[in-house]
Amino acid sequence: MIFRDFPLNLMETLKCRRSLHQYVVVFMFLVTLGTGSTCEAPSSPQCFRRSSAEIMYVCEWTMNTTESDVSYDLHIEYEAQGILSALLGSVRTEVQHRGIKKTTCSMIGDTLIRKRPVEIWVAAHVGNSSCTSPRRSVELQHIVKHDIPQNITMSWLKNNLSLSWSAAEEYPALAEVRFRRHEHPTDSWETRMTNTTHETSKYSVIVVNLLKLTPYQVQIRQRSSQVRNPLWSDWSPVVTVPAELEQMPEVSMATRLLNGTRKVTLTWKPMPHAAAVTGVRYKVMDTQSSQRCPCAEKGPAIKSSEHQTYVSYSAVNISVIAMNAAGSSPPAVIQVPAQPAAELKTCNEALMSKKIKKKTCREFYELQDGDSRPENIITVTADKRRNMKYVQEFVRYLYYEHRCERGKPRTVEMCLFYKKQGAPRIKPQNFTHSSETDNSVDLSWRAIPPADQRGFLTHYSLCSVKISSPEARKECLNISASVVNYRLENLTPGAQYNISLAGVTPAGEGPNAQTTVSTLPEKPVNVLWSLSLLFVFFFLSTTCTCILKRIKNKIFPPVPTPVIPNFTPYQEESQEMPERKEEVHELTLLQLHPEVKSVPEDAEETTVLRGDWDDDTDEDVESERGDSSLSGGTSDECLGPGSTDQALRRSKEGEATDLEQLDNEIAMLIYRNGLVFDVKTEST
Ligand SMILES: *[C@@H]1O[C@H](CO)[C@@H](O)[C@H](O)[C@H]1NC(C)=O
Ligand SMILES: *[C@@H]1O[C@H](CO)[C@@H](O)[C@H](O)[C@H]1NC(C)=O
Ligand SMILES: *[C@@H]1O[C@H](CO)[C@@H](O)[C@H](O)[C@H]1NC(C)=O
Ligand SMILES: *[C@@H]1O[C@H](CO)[C@@H](O)[C@H](O)[C@H]1NC(C)=O
Ligand SMILES: *[C@@H]1O[C@H](CO)[C@@H](O)[C@H](O)[C@H]1NC(C)=O
Ligand SMILES: *[C@@H]1O[C@H](CO)[C@@H](O)[C@H](O)[C@H]1NC(C)=O
Ligand SMILES: *[C@@H]1O[C@H](CO)[C@@H](O)[C@H](O)[C@H]1NC(C)=O
Ligand SMILES: *[C@@H]1O[C@H](CO)[C@@H](O)[C@H](O)[C@H]1NC(C)=O
Ligand SMILES: *[C@@H]1O[C@H](CO)[C@@H](O)[C@H](O)[C@H]1NC(C)=O
Repeated sequence: MIFRDFPLNLMETLKCRRSLHQYVVVFMFLVTLGTGSTCEAPSSPQCFRRSSAEIMYVCEWTMNTTESDVSYDLHIEYEAQGILSALLGSVRTEVQHRGIKKTTCSMIGDTLIRKRPVEIWVAAHVGNSSCTSPRRSVELQHIVKHDIPQNITMSWLKNNLSLSWSAAEEYPALAEVRFRRHEHPTDSWETRMTNTTHETSKYSVIVVNLLKLTPYQVQIRQRSSQVRNPLWSDWSPVVTVPAELEQMPEVSMATRLLNGTRKVTLTWKPMPHAAAVTGVRYKVMDTQSSQRCPCAEKGPAIKSSEHQTYVSYSAVNISVIAMNAAGSSPPAVIQVPAQPAAELKTCNEALMSKKIKKKTCREFYELQDGDSRPENIITVTADKRRNMKYVQEFVRYLYYEHRCERGKPRTVEMCLFYKKQGAPRIKPQNFTHSSETDNSVDLSWRAIPPADQRGFLTHYSLCSVKISSPEARKECLNISASVVNYRLENLTPGAQYNISLAGVTPAGEGPNAQTTVSTLPEKPVNVLWSLSLLFVFFFLSTTCTCILKRIKNKIFPPVPTPVIPNFTPYQEESQEMPERKEEVHELTLLQLHPEVKSVPEDAEETTVLRGDWDDDTDEDVESERGDSSLSGGTSDECLGPGSTDQALRRSKEGEATDLEQLDNEIAMLIYRNGLVFDVKTEST
């Protein structure tokens, strides 16, 4: 007898689509309506929650049938309590879900059925006949059956295999793992039972003491540990665990320069088979694109063992990682050094005022002693413009500007950069001198290291000041910034100098290094040299004069014709002159008488008087030749016999009158050096 018939609003959410009619049936007596049992009975249904926090229940059963039009009724029967049972004693109540087309049904397990023992069965209707499954007595709240482990991941920890999957609930569960070697799929399964650890919605277990270089087949099932009667989940599908990728890929690289960009071709050997049973993929990363400088990260993992990529001129590390289901290999890092520039120029001042474009990236490599320290690279992009504030003043940077053109990075600018220049911080080091002479000194020093230059060194300023002299003037000169030694010349012999050297940048002069230098005194050998030079000069000029005189005589015969016949007799005597003249070496006092005139006396006398006459004749000759300096100045020095004759001849012209004037006088002739004659006369 049907007591009440009410549809539960809650039931609208049920997945049992065909269970349109539910009834609460009160049986006064246990009645079984077994009408026709021509079909084969379905299995008794199993009802459970997926986790202990779930309120939805799922019931599953099976049935062997070839019929397509089968419908099921699910019956949940329990003993009523409260007023009814108090009145009527043992009263059975039933919840029915009718017209179910599948062998599964989910429903909300309200407290009526959840928290008490129930009997569950299912009735199948095939055509006119129907049949019922065996009954199953259960307490629903104690039954939990987790789903099969989902999204299994694996990794090797030495020879232990770590397996993880999505957690079924927020409590740990019990897991059973079965495995066998991949190469021997006919082996029986080996099983391990472990409690899972639960972390961030993941269950994980560690299967210890496997061989990491052997691939395995693995299956997992799990069971709740939160309820009294948990059910094992179904086994997960077979998962193949590849061997560990122990070795990094063996990568070889070839680089080609392409107008601001570099094409890098990487090739590598395939990974060992055991690690590649489920396939290997490779990930190629580089430090440039990971910083989006200037192009962003490239495509996904690749399968082939060759890869081409493009990098800019700045240094880049490319890493190749092999990956399989069980993890990844250590990265093979290929360092592509910066493309060396033939000659780095200094950056244009206007460079920084240019607005940075979207696909442009600027890099500042801090230069320390000529090397770039990779940890001090500042990257400035349109998005990270504020990084410019990390670029320091007085620090030398190697500046790069890259652009991303059609997905390829290209270097468009490379130069040396200072945000702001300063004067050098230190003086040139090891400033020493050597090889002093009397007027020069060698100076040498060590260049100022770039870090201490704080600007572009334009030149060195080398100054010297003489210490001893009272009006010491500082003299400075600029010498090339690229030299480290210099020969300072034009110094005074035997003097002391303070010499200073300082590096100069556009911002000014740095501190100077000082040294004191003493030049050597003037050498005696120099005096000898000058003397000998003087002598040579004297000799040469004398010879020259004589030659000139001879030439002059040949060209311009000097002797006037009328005089010559008077002196013919003396010419013979005068030929003896050189001999006699040499005899007169000492101071000689002679008394001259016209009657006892001797040739030597004549010669001497005429020589004395010659001075006046010579001037006259020379002037004549000079006016004729028009050459004053050579003949005029040197006529006295000529000692050649020709000139003596000439002088003698000339002297004879005035002899008669002069000798008469000297009558009764004592003439004293002092002969010195054969060149200069002093005449002293005394009257007696
Ligand atoms: C279904 O039929 C097959 C053979 O016809 C039998 O082996 C199996 O046990 C049956 N299943 C059930 C639930 O009766
Ligand atoms: C099932 O019932 C229908 C009438 O409802 C009848 O025509 C048919 O013959 C019956 N089939 C069997 C197998 O009894
Ligand atoms: C698990 O894997 C499925 C696909 O297989 C995916 O849709 C889902 O997001 C994964 N879940 C987790 C937690 O990773
Ligand atoms: C799992 O943990 C429970 C209690 O924490 C313990 O009784 C049981 O033995 C553990 N099972 C395994 C396989 O370690
Ligand atoms: C692997 O398992 C063994 C046995 O439990 C343990 O001693 C060892 O520490 C584990 N190794 C790692 C790397 O977890
Ligand atoms: C290099 O690139 C510049 C700028 O894009 C271009 O003007 C020049 O023709 C290129 N040179 C070569 C050899 O491709
Ligand atoms: C490349 O790798 C080496 C070694 O790990 C490192 O010293 C260097 O800084 C890296 N270079 C770049 C550009 O990241
Ligand atoms: C030379 O240098 C010394 C010390 O280096 C200094 O005391 C002296 O005044 C300097 N002399 C001149 C003329 O600059
Ligand atoms: C040295 O160079 C500076 C700057 O270029 C210049 O002002 C100065 O006149 C130069 N001095 C000499 C001696 O050339």
